[in-house]
Order: sequence, then structure tokens, then C-alpha cells
Amino acid sequence: MCGIVGYVGPQRATPLLVDGLKRLEYRGYDSAGVAVMNGKGVETRRAAGKIARLEQVIAEEPPLGTLGIAHTRWATHGPPTERNAHPHLSHDGTIALVHNGIIENYSALKQSLQARGYVFHSDTDTEVLANLIQEAFAGNLEAAVIEALRQVEGTYGIAVISSLDTEKIVAARKGSPLLIGLGDGEYFVASDASAILRHTRQVIYLDDGEVAVVARDGYRIVDLDAHAQDKPVTRIEWDLEHIEKGGYAHFMLKEIFEQPTTVSNTMRGRLILEEGFSKLGGLNMTREQLLSVDNVIITACGTSWHSALIGEMMIEELCRIPTEVEYASEFRYRNPIIGPNTLCIVISQSGETADTLAAMREAKRRGAHTLGLVNVVGSTIAREDHGGIYLHAGPEIGVASTKAFTSQVVALALFTLKLARLRDLSVERGRQIAQALADLPKQIQSILDRAPEIEALAEEFKRASNFLYLGRGYNFPAALEGALKLKEISYIHAEGYPAAEMKHGPIALIDEMMPVVFIAPHDAVFEKVVSNIQEVKARKGRIIAITTREEPSLKGQIDYEFRIPETVDLLTPVLASIPLQLLAYYIAVKRACNVDQPRNLAKSVTVE
Ligand code: F6R
Repeated sequence: MCGIVGYVGPQRATPLLVDGLKRLEYRGYDSAGVAVMNGKGVETRRAAGKIARLEQVIAEEPPLGTLGIAHTRWATHGPPTERNAHPHLSHDGTIALVHNGIIENYSALKQSLQARGYVFHSDTDTEVLANLIQEAFAGNLEAAVIEALRQVEGTYGIAVISSLDTEKIVAARKGSPLLIGLGDGEYFVASDASAILRHTRQVIYLDDGEVAVVARDGYRIVDLDAHAQDKPVTRIEWDLEHIEKGGYAHFMLKEIFEQPTTVSNTMRGRLILEEGFSKLGGLNMTREQLLSVDNVIITACGTSWHSALIGEMMIEELCRIPTEVEYASEFRYRNPIIGPNTLCIVISQSGETADTLAAMREAKRRGAHTLGLVNVVGSTIAREDHGGIYLHAGPEIGVASTKAFTSQVVALALFTLKLARLRDLSVERGRQIAQALADLPKQIQSILDRAPEIEALAEEFKRASNFLYLGRGYNFPAALEGALKLKEISYIHAEGYPAAEMKHGPIALIDEMMPVVFIAPHDAVFEKVVSNIQEVKARKGRIIAITTREEPSLKGQIDYEFRIPETVDLLTPVLASIPLQLLAYYIAVKRACNVDQPRNLAKSVTVE
């Protein structure tokens, strides 16, 4: 979603800001801009479309200066045009502002500002804030920002500069991630560490309600009552190469191929094979607390919600604890039943998804113990949960989530194993699951080695306009995930369904034009899936099946078969999802789609 970069120091700001924006491109955006203090005033350049377009505009007349702010915008209020691109200037041009988030009461504020003579030049909610800051300005920018923020409702990560208080950037956060980077004689503001990693590894994450003043000679962080805050400095441990393509055509392909490693990293130091047990240091729950869990709620969005569904089945099967999965956006607005022994598991790759964060806060407020399964270290969910399991999958840059999904399922399996073994699960069964987990990286690699087979399949199906994905049990969520991957990046309409439920409606769609992907490993529900395959074949559907063994009853029923290795039932979605990710990827590439930045999507959805 929207990205922010700010710089103050001895270097020319514009090239540095543009480079930072490029590092944020993966998050999804549709316009971009910069504002630089040029010695006399604030100079802005903005453009609709990609950063390359902004660079052309800048090249015509580059703004010169050593302090500035920049932004990539993902449209919410108003179309993605140049006039709606950030930075936005206040009515008199003295304040420039970039903003992530949504000002919910902007309409009322705008009307009253207009009544006081302020003229607006965009359709955005952000411009209201620029004008409120102008109105509150009495010589000190941070005081004006604090005063303006008191009037707004909603969420924001902002960076502000002023031609009347020229030596500082003021940044503030509520509900939208923001950090400051500490360089050598220079300082940065960013919504994501990847924007500034070339320059520094030392960062301070702002919390909600904090305001940072960043100048050439240092920084200060205060709360909205101007009380100084003492904040820890965090060192970023990953490298720039993690956010580069490393020879792959796309980030998504690189991330698909990284999965043998990322899945190993999720398990590293956590699996005790001989005891069939797992060690999870970050849960912050005693054995007694773990044993007294009465029910589990898992909440998440999108792909993370699919892994949550798999987690639900694992926990109910092996721990025998009632578990419910909720879309975070629904959970937060109903009246969920949470008791003192409710465990709320929150799953999020980014750790910043607005709905998931709000759902976690709601669960905490009602007294649940919260556990975050998060990939991005230092993200808001990771900082606010009671405990958690980091995925350690490394930065995921492709907008379509791949390696985070498999790591989420593995992390859920590790957690289930621990909880189940503390309860009734036998050592033997524990060992079997632990061994199956340990075998996954090699098995994933063996599937990836056969990627050309999937590429050939993609060639066959690249012109389809609909797809149906069917699975049962643990592989119903895998079907949902396969369909989501395809629709996100290839724009082919795809639906995931429980295989038998297909008879209650979607079967009407099946004819010789409809590709149907069955996820049919030899698991507890295999025989049932075979019947569903026959039902589709009888209606001339074109069947692609992900299977694990030769099956006589399927002879002549399947058009394209792809075999994956066998594993325990609960881990089959990890292996099944690899060919499905590859299928979506290759079809999208063959349709000339922008795989890493699909239209309308954002990597981290930080608005409701
Ligand atoms: C799909 C995808 C999204 C995310 C969803 C939640 O490929 O990436 O559906 O899974 O927006 O994001 P996180 O996991 O960051 O909370």
C-alpha cells in the first residue's frame, strides 16, 4: 500500500528519495511524488502511474535541496491522477505533507476549512490535514502538526515539511507503520525499512500516538502531549539481496523457489525429532496456560486466512480444542464470545494489515491471550501481541503471498504439535509429524525441480476464462489458496470450493470449457474426492489433478496429473500449494500480466 520516504542530511535529497520509493514499489501504488526544500520554499514533482514517469518529470527540472519527503500512493479518496498524488500542499503552499491511511472525518473538516476560505486542489482526504497544519502553524511545525492531529479521526502515517520551519521533517503515526532511520550525519523517515536499508540498519519504530522531529543534528520523539519518549533502536538483520530478484524474472518466482529454505528457517531450532515435540520460545505462555486453553480463535485476511483454516483443522484434530476461524474484518465488528481461557491466534505476513491488527486489539481488549504468527520482524502486530511465532521466511516482496503461506502452515503445525503433545498426543504420532515436517524442504525441492511440467500445463490453459479449484479436508483451504493466486495475478476468474459442495451449485458451470483443478492426495478423504472427480468428468470438465499415487479408479478420468510426494495429511497443503503457485505464476506470465504488482492490489493493506 502507500509508501513514505523522507530524508534530511548532507546529500541531494531527490535521487535518494526516488531510490527509496523504488524499494517500496512492490507494495502496490498508482501515483508518486516528491517535495524538496529548495532554500526558498517547497518544490514538488508528482506523476500518475509508475515511478519511471515521476523520474521523467523530475529529469525535466530536478528539485534541488537536502531535505525532502516522497510518497507512493494507492488510491482511496479520488482516482490515481497527478492532482491526487502526494505530497499535498496547504492552501498557501507553506506546508507539504505525505500521508498513508485514511482521515475518516475529512468531509466535515473540509467543509469547515472551505467556509474559512481554504481552497482545495485534490479529491483526497490528505489535503485537509495539510490545511489544518497551516491553520495551526505559529512558528513551530511539530506544534502545528500535533494541534492538527487532535482534530482528525482515522489512521495516519505522515511526514510533513514547511517552508516556514525549514530544517526538519515532522513524522507522526496512528495505525499506519512508520520508522525513522539513523544514518551517519543523516536521518530518514520511512513506512518500510526496505526504503532506507541501503543507507542504514539502525531504525526506531514509531508507535501510535508518537511524533518524531527529524533534523540535521538529531531527532526527538514525543507523544501528542509533547512529552519526550525514550525509544529503543532496532538493528535490521536482513540484507538488501533479500529484496532483490537474484537472477529470477520476478520476485514471485524467486519466492516460490526459496520455499525449501524458508520452510527450513521457520522450523530451525524449533523441532525436536526424537521427542516428537516443538520448542517455541516466543509464546510467552506457561505450560499451565497452554493446558488451560478452552477455545481458539484464529483471525486473519486473504492468504493468511487460508492458512488459518488449515490451522483450525490441525488444532481440532490433534489438540481437540474447539477452534474457530474468522475474517479479521468481520471479527472486529461483531460481538465475539471471548472467555478468560480463549487463545486468539493472529496470522499476518506483514504484521500491519489494518483489519487484522484491529481484530487483535479487540481480542486483547476482551481478555484473550494473543499470539501473532507474523513474518515482518518489528511490525505492529508483532510488537503488540502477547507472544508469537515469527515465520522467518525473509522479506516477501511479490504482492501475491507464496512463501509466507507455506511458512504459516508450518508454524501452525509446530504450534499444534507442541500443544497436542502437552495434551494427549502420543510420542509416536508426534515423532511421525515432526519427521514429516523435517522432510518438507526436500519434498518441496523435488516439486520445484519439475517446474517445467507446470509451465507446459500453463501453456495449455492460459486462455481459460474461468477455473474451479476443488479439495476436501485439509485441502479445501489449499483449493481456496490456489484460486486466489490465479485470480490475483492472471485476472482469470477462479473459485475454490469444497469438492463435494460443488454439487450444490458450481456444477452448473461445468462443461468442456471449464478447467477444474482437484487437489487429491491419498489422504483420509481421497475416496470421496475420487467420486467428485468422476462427477466432473461425467460433465466433460477438463481435469487437472494434484495426486500422490497411481490410482486405478482414476484411469481415464484425469486430463493432466501432477504427482507430489506423500506426507501426513495435515501437511499436504504445503506440498499441494507449490504446483498451484507455479501454475498461477506461469499462466500470468504467459498472459503478460504484471506478476509482482498486480493491478489494484497492495502488499500490505493498511486501510480498513
Ligand atoms: C494474497 C495476499 C493477501 C494477503 C492479505 C493479508 O496473495 O497476499 O490476500 O494475504 O492481504 O496480508 P497479511 O498476511 O500481510 O496480513
